[in-house]
Amino acid sequence: MISSTSTWSKYVFIALEGAADAVPAGKLELLEEGIKPIASTFVYGNKYLQRANAVAVDPVSMPLHEAKKSRETVFQPPAGLALFGAIRDAAPDSWGRRVIENMLRAAPDGLPETEYLAHAGPHRTGALDFRDAPNAPAEPGKLPDAKSLTYLLDAAAMIQDGKPVPKKLQLLFSVGATFGGARPKAVLLDDNRQWVAKFPVARDGFNVPLVERATLELARQCGMRVPETRSIHLPDGRDVMLIERFDRMLLPEGSFGKRHVVSALTMLKMHESDTASASYTDLADTLSDHGATGFVAADKTELFKRMVFNILVTNDDDHLRNHAFVWDGAKKGWRLSDLYDVVPKPQVGSERFLVLGVGPAKGRLATLDNALSAAGRFGLLKHVAAEIIQHLSGVVREWRTCFEAFDVPKTECDKIASAFRKPQSIGLREVEKT
Ligand SMILES: Nc1ncnc2c1ncn2[C@@H]1O[C@H](COP(=O)(O)OP(=O)(O)O)[C@@H](O)[C@H]1O
Ligand SMILES: [Mg+2]
Repeated sequence: MISSTSTWSKYVFIALEGAADAVPAGKLELLEEGIKPIASTFVYGNKYLQRANAVAVDPVSMPLHEAKKSRETVFQPPAGLALFGAIRDAAPDSWGRRVIENMLRAAPDGLPETEYLAHAGPHRTGALDFRDAPNAPAEPGKLPDAKSLTYLLDAAAMIQDGKPVPKKLQLLFSVGATFGGARPKAVLLDDNRQWVAKFPVARDGFNVPLVERATLELARQCGMRVPETRSIHLPDGRDVMLIERFDRMLLPEGSFGKRHVVSALTMLKMHESDTASASYTDLADTLSDHGATGFVAADKTELFKRMVFNILVTNDDDHLRNHAFVWDGAKKGWRLSDLYDVVPKPQVGSERFLVLGVGPAKGRLATLDNALSAAGRFGLLKHVAAEIIQHLSGVVREWRTCFEAFDVPKTECDKIASAFRKPQSIGLREVEKT
């Protein structure tokens, strides 16, 4: 079969920090063969390069300093990739694709990447937008509020069942439901703040929304940076978790500013399938190379804590789309984003692995002594790292108290209890010897 090639040419717009609307940053050309992207190019606009607050659309494959060296520099994605990472991040990877396919009546993953990019809408993750002309206006899109949650959950269920969502419901739902990640979700406006609402799934083995929220709150008790969370109990008994968006900020005039976000996948110039070869120390190195002045040491410590926390709660879904970096315009550098998507995974076996490499001693093995072996790469002295591990172990040991305070019933706690191994059985003793 011969499949045709086509080129998608768009102006890439970016909302610069503190501004409600986006400005054109440059021109993207994306070549596709059938539905498969095969090559991309990007050229910054000269006017954009002259802006004092310009930010690289993709810090690793479209650096501004390269563009400023010679006008009209044509960028291409890192070797082996057809898409620029930051452009890939602007389209959903899973859930939002199902929403777009439902709207367009297409098969799962049956659309060209450019259709997902085009339909992800104004509320997509981060600060990018794609338009046909440098003076084209932003797409409108009024977000639903928490009062619409029952309707939103109904629409999400239809999408999961492969049933077409009726037009009226689609209008309400599709505006903010094009986010990535596997689980059903939608963006909401509530109390003048934007939230990612994460829904339950019929086949869940435990109450994921309540447990995810309580786990994020446990992480906060450990001293990590976590957005505000809420849980909403619907009249029909279903629970929904809300987590405030870290890539939106309310501006004095009442509209929302956007923050530029790239995934860790992008920062490491990787394809999804390479995730298993990456490690937490690679992310620490990313912070050393691209971090915001004055925050590098703090963010590397925060990253170390997240790795230790994931070990303690068996969150083994710590892949490269579950870590992100946010542009800090004032400090002209990238910060580790606030924490998101941390869920304990109950399991039988006691030997466990994270997705990302933990330490030089034992690779991806999820143990505390393995984490300690990486301390230096996070800029931490051994005894300081050991104190962090001891502190987190102590807080996580009391997880049931925290979960109870955040309304997780005891029966639900029992279902996930096996995710929490005794710190002594996963290397705390070795750490304490330090
Ligand atoms: N609080 C947040 N602020 C901004 N973006 C977020 C937030 N939480 C999640 N995201 C984005 O949405 C994506 C999906 O959310 P996630 O919680 O990872 O869902 P899932 O459990 O389905 O993987 C993330 O990869 C991230 O890009
Ligand atoms: Mg996720």
